[in-house]
Parts: sequence; structure tokens; C-alpha cells
Amino acid sequence: MKGIVFTELMEMVESQFGIEMVDRIIQPQELVSKGVFTSVGTYPFSDLVSILGHLSQATGAGIPELEKAFGQYLAGRFSKLYLPFFQRVNSVFELLNEVDSYIHIEVKKLYPDAELPQFDTIKMDSAHIEMIYRSQRKMFPFAEGLIDASATYYQQKVKIKVLEWNHDGAEVRFLVESLG
Ligand code: HEM
Repeated sequence: MKGIVFTELMEMVESQFGIEMVDRIIQPQELVSKGVFTSVGTYPFSDLVSILGHLSQATGAGIPELEKAFGQYLAGRFSKLYLPFFQRVNSVFELLNEVDSYIHIEVKKLYPDAELPQFDTIKMDSAHIEMIYRSQRKMFPFAEGLIDASATYYQQKVKIKVLEWNHDGAEVRFLVESLG
């Protein structure tokens, strides 16, 4: 996992719960990174799992719920940090269509060691698209949060339904409906 994922998660936790919560959920002895992250570094996915687990214990929120909230937060940050990706297109559906075919390809050029999911996007009609998420990291609630909050940049709203859930979440089919 790229360091930006960790540094942004720490920012989110600090702004929502305060710096004490950051100290509580980082258990350096459990982490390969020892809890020291830079945005350009790369750290094991297991470190993210450990941090989210402690955040879940400390807040009482479930891990899927936390992942979704983090995806929502990160979409807002990406729309500032990587504004040109959002500006290239005029709607959330066009953006979603480009995640696999353009955005993540560019991300991979910037960060060759990035571990990215795979998406198949199928447009059904002007108000519905399906996205099939595939990743061994099973971060589909994170994907859901990113999809949901990416719409905000275009002043759009979407409703997301999980149509199919396979291989313990390594393959998830979403229906995204544009509510205008
Ligand atoms: C400008 C927009 C975007 C940028 C710059 C971006 C960049 C990234 C980066 C840097 C990572 C981390 C890779 C790693 O840690 O090794 C990532 C992961 C991920 N991205 Fe994107 N992304 C963007 C938009 C999206 C959108 C709209 C979606 C949802 C459809 C999405 C879905 C995901 C998911 C689910 C992961 C987690 C890794 C996994 O599940 O295997 N991304 N992305």
C-alpha cells in the first residue's frame, strides 16, 4: 500500500477523533512500518489491516463502515490532490469509466509498486452503470465510499447497490444509479 493511503487515513482520524486516537490505533510493535509513514513510501497491506482493526475497537464502528468513510474522505482529497483526473471528464460515470482504463494506469506510472484493484465497468443506460471490483485486498467498502463521494465533485448524487459478492469480497458487482 502506498504511503499516501496511510498519511491520509491519519489525517482523517486526527480531524475526526483527535491526535490521541492516532496514538491509540498505531501499535508500532505490530507494524512493519513501525508506524512511521511518508506519502511516497510503500508499506504492507497488513499494517493497514492492523490500524483499521484498532480504530474499529476504539470507536465501536465496524471495519467495513470505517473503510467506506475513509473512501468518502479520500475521494474529497483526491479531487484536490489529483484535480486533473477529475477535470478531464464531466460526470461521475465518465470518471468511473476511467478508473481502470486511465486513472489507475497513470497512478501505476507514478508509483510502480502501487497495488491496485481491477474494475470492469459496463454502462447499462444513462442512469445506471455496473462496476465489477476485483482485488485480493477485498476493499470493496472503500471502493463504495470512493464511488459515492466522487459524485460530489460533479454535484451529482449516486445510489450504490451490491448485486453480487463473491470469493469473500475479492469480487464484488456494484450497480451505481445516478440520481441526477
Ligand atoms: C483521481 C482519482 C484516483 C486516484 C488518484 C487513485 C489512486 C489510488 C492509489 C494511489 C491507490 C493506492 C494503491 C496502493 O496503495 O498501492 C488506490 C487504491 C484504490 N483505488 Fe484508486 N484512485 C482514484 C480513484 C478511484 C476511484 C474513483 C475508485 C472507485 C471506483 C478507486 C478505487 C480504488 C480502490 C478500491 C483501491 C484500493 C486497493 C484495492 O482495493 O486493491 N480509485 N487508488
